[in-house]
Amino acid sequence: MKTIILNGSPRKNRNTAMMLKEARKGAESVGAETEYIDLFDLSYTGCRSCLACKRKGAERCRCFWKDDLSPVIDRIFAADALIIGSPIYLGDVTSQVHGLIERLHFCALSYDDYSNYFTGKVDVGIILTMNAPKTYYDLAYKKKAGEIEQSFKALNGSTEVYACCDTLQVSDYSRYNMADFNEDHKKAVREKQFPLDLEKAFQMGARLSGGK
Ligand SMILES: Cc1cc2nc3c(=O)[nH]c(=O)nc-3n(C[C@H](O)[C@H](O)[C@H](O)COP(=O)(O)O)c2cc1C
Repeated sequence: MKTIILNGSPRKNRNTAMMLKEARKGAESVGAETEYIDLFDLSYTGCRSCLACKRKGAERCRCFWKDDLSPVIDRIFAADALIIGSPIYLGDVTSQVHGLIERLHFCALSYDDYSNYFTGKVDVGIILTMNAPKTYYDLAYKKKAGEIEQSFKALNGSTEVYACCDTLQVSDYSRYNMADFNEDHKKAVREKQFPLDLEKAFQMGARLSGGK
């Protein structure tokens, strides 16, 4: 059982990464082999439209662009589970995550009949972290989360999304022009809700890696 965990936040130890590290612990708790990758450490862009993946005779489900992402795409297609995390940036996933989705999805997509070349199965968990409280997530971002989830259906496995809301963006709000945020409220959420979010991430890691 191999579980790949991708951090789509530029911050390596904050909300998204903390959730993903718990998911990794959950995966390892049921004996999965894990690989954790900070996407912002890799040098890549979204799809370059080279169309090498659509050339006659080309190996299917391979991105041929030579950069840091293509070997990761190979490993995702060979994995049993993928857990990907992203902060919400302007109502969407980060550009790094979007670039990965383009490349992963496009090289599995047939331009003959729009069928899916991928015949394997990778279960997918998506962790989104955001400033927005849950009520705003439900109102404004849930549809987008569903679209992101849909793009991973090409991996033929189960898909699930966990929204970690109202995150603590900075540890000391008084040092920033961030008057729109109530620091006491943010710290209370961090103290009471965030440990529950971490527990959910652990469970996701364990569940997608073959546990209960
Ligand atoms: C460029 C940028 C754009 C953001 N846009 C949004 C947004 O549209 N909605 C939201 O709820 N939070 C937004 N945020 C806040 C982050 O999603 C939130 O703080 C997240 O938990 C950060 O994750 P991290 O701690 O892993 O970096 C934004 C943050 C940045 C830096």
